[in-house]
Amino acid sequence: MNQPGGPIRFTLTPGFSMARTRRSLEATLAGYRKDGRSVALVPTMGYLHEGHLSLVDTARRHADAVVLSIFVNPLQFAPGEDLERYPRDLERDAELAMDRGANLVFAPSEGEMFPTGRPRIQVDPGELAKRLCGQARPHHFQGVATIVAKLFGLVRPDVAVFGRKDYQQALLIRTMVADLDLGVAVQVAPIMREPDGLAMSSRNAYLGEGEREAAAEIFQALSSADRVFRHGERNAESLRSRVHRHLDETPLLDPEYVELVDPQSLAPLQEAREGAVLAVAVQCGRARLIDNVVLGSPVSDPRLGETDVEPAG
Ligand code: PAJ
Repeated sequence: MNQPGGPIRFTLTPGFSMARTRRSLEATLAGYRKDGRSVALVPTMGYLHEGHLSLVDTARRHADAVVLSIFVNPLQFAPGEDLERYPRDLERDAELAMDRGANLVFAPSEGEMFPTGRPRIQVDPGELAKRLCGQARPHHFQGVATIVAKLFGLVRPDVAVFGRKDYQQALLIRTMVADLDLGVAVQVAPIMREPDGLAMSSRNAYLGEGEREAAAEIFQALSSADRVFRHGERNAESLRSRVHRHLDETPLLDPEYVELVDPQSLAPLQEAREGAVLAVAVQCGRARLIDNVVLGSPVSDPRLGETDVEPAG
């Protein structure tokens, strides 16, 4: 087992490894390759919850060995965002990942990830990165695309799994892989929710009690628009304003955007249609929360959503 970064206080299952360095990552990967095992990567920033762990399930269905990476990526946070207070619990994460059947947790330090300093060359994610969350976070997706490209280089996975919770991110990664011929099969897994509908997120840990209750209204607002769509409403503005009103009327919620967009270009739509993405970002206390629904999609079927994010263009 590779654990130069400190003791692990739980019993490691045979076949599970922990790598804190690129050297130990490489050693474990070499073992998989020698055995002819295909590799799936699940990139995360840790503080794992059921949403992340469901990606491990998807990864296991698509490859023989599952690598889960944990790295709170400074490149995707702007000054003043929550990089320093982002929740972290490596030991608990490693145990959860192991129990869920991940084979390797790769959790590098910043120095290990950037041995020669921050990358001088970064991935320009183009127009898609300017939509939705890119309005308020103009450099965010460049940081995401760069770190994911780097993780692909370090792990060289056959498959990588992302969650639809971050719809724009999943679309960007799919598009990056297609445009740059990175040769990784990208799987997109459905959104895991709390019983009251709130999309699971590491940032839910920031919510106080009242805020936590208010946050459940985000999915209620999206679901109510989806219901109205299913009953025939096709006017994008009326669906959007329905969601906006619901959020505005909920104390403690401060919507940043409510948009109905084309699932591939993320361009705003005038007319709603099946498969269009209704996406929101909402400030709730110290937490910035995002969520989305794909209009008309049978969201109750957990198998759906795995392939519903196509590369742009
Ligand atoms: P993080 O927010 O930790 O999320 C890691 C992965 O888990 C992402 O693919 C995200 O979409 C997925 N995920 C989060 N909540 C989910 C939920 N409720 N249901 C399903 N999937 C969920 O996204 C990042 O980290 C980073 O940007 C990263 C890709 C690791 C690059 O730094």
